[in-house]
Amino acid sequence: MRVFVTGASGFVGRRLIRELLRRGDSVVALTRRTSNLGGVLGDPPQSERFTVVEGDPCKPGQWQQALAGCDAVVALAGEPVMGGRWTTEFKRRLYDSRIESVRRVVEALPPQSTKETPGPRVLISASAVGYYGSRGTQELTESAGPGSDFLANLCADWEAAAEAAKQVGARVVCLRIGVVLGEGGGALEKMLPAFRLFMGGPMGSGEQYWAWIHLEDVVGLILYSLSHAEVQGPVNAVAPGACTVREIAKQIGATLHRPAMFAVPELALKVLLGDRAEVLLASQRVVPQRARELGYRFRYEDLPTALRAALGQPHS
Ligand SMILES: NC(=O)c1ccc[n+]([C@@H]2O[C@H](COP(=O)([O-])OP(=O)(O)OC[C@H]3O[C@@H](n4cnc5c(N)ncnc54)[C@H](OP(=O)(O)O)[C@@H]3O)[C@@H](O)[C@H]2O)c1
Repeated sequence: MRVFVTGASGFVGRRLIRELLRRGDSVVALTRRTSNLGGVLGDPPQSERFTVVEGDPCKPGQWQQALAGCDAVVALAGEPVMGGRWTTEFKRRLYDSRIESVRRVVEALPPQSTKETPGPRVLISASAVGYYGSRGTQELTESAGPGSDFLANLCADWEAAAEAAKQVGARVVCLRIGVVLGEGGGALEKMLPAFRLFMGGPMGSGEQYWAWIHLEDVVGLILYSLSHAEVQGPVNAVAPGACTVREIAKQIGATLHRPAMFAVPELALKVLLGDRAEVLLASQRVVPQRARELGYRFRYEDLPTALRAALGQPHS
């Protein structure tokens, strides 16, 4: 299979590319700057099945022509949500980098009237558990409706942009991804310094639920979705055990042999981060109902094991 990947240089994209190449697929990686992909496969990349295309996924361009030769698209592009204060301009970047980039992919998909017509037949698009808004202790399966805050609206529009690919006959999967735990990036990397300095602890009340998933399972679910034609629509990309933030902090502390008692009060987070604090304070007890029904087997089902793996500690 020849797979077109947007947001290829990111935390998920890099791991996905390595896995696709390892299992014998070909990859066309779209990046805004080729140098962003440095080190993905060594420098220069050492595989003839790996092609890099430079372009801005939010704007029409030459890069769209590369889609025609591919069998599938994995859309991962997105300005990091915690990467800046949520000014009007930054919110626009968060929005456009996701919704416009998916729209540019969809508009370049060739119509598929027959099985022989070349071009991608499946679009796997990232979305996020932010789709659900903040919902306390309610268990959220894929059939729960969307929330109404900024991120919930963004995710709903993101998924609608992807779903438009159905009009040209593509199968569409929207992965509602939780907090991704893995080595060398993501949310965990940002939380670790405080714990290493013996100053870690829960954020806000700590009673809010975070739905987490190990990086290997995000990639696992993408690969599963690529190769199983029955997967379509929204799929919660979260591990079976959503935990409270207090529990997550406790487990990080235990894994690092550090205390986890320095709670950061809600007010401090709001002063420090502005509107972004809503990401950390939202409660999303999301369950992977669809993944379970489909028979996907999670590699990391419990938090302690996932954290040890994400922190590079051997299995015990
Ligand atoms: N990691 C998580 O915990 C998590 C949770 C929920 C949802 N997600 C979603 O899953 C997707 C992949 O996550 P990730 O952790 O791999 O993200 P990431 O590490 O932040 O990478 C995203 C990639 O998107 C591209 N990008 C960044 N800003 C952009 C902009 N303004 N315009 C166009 N492209 C831009 C970049 O690729 P180039 O520089 O190569 O163009 C970047 O490497 C994202 O859409 C993210 O929102 C992630």
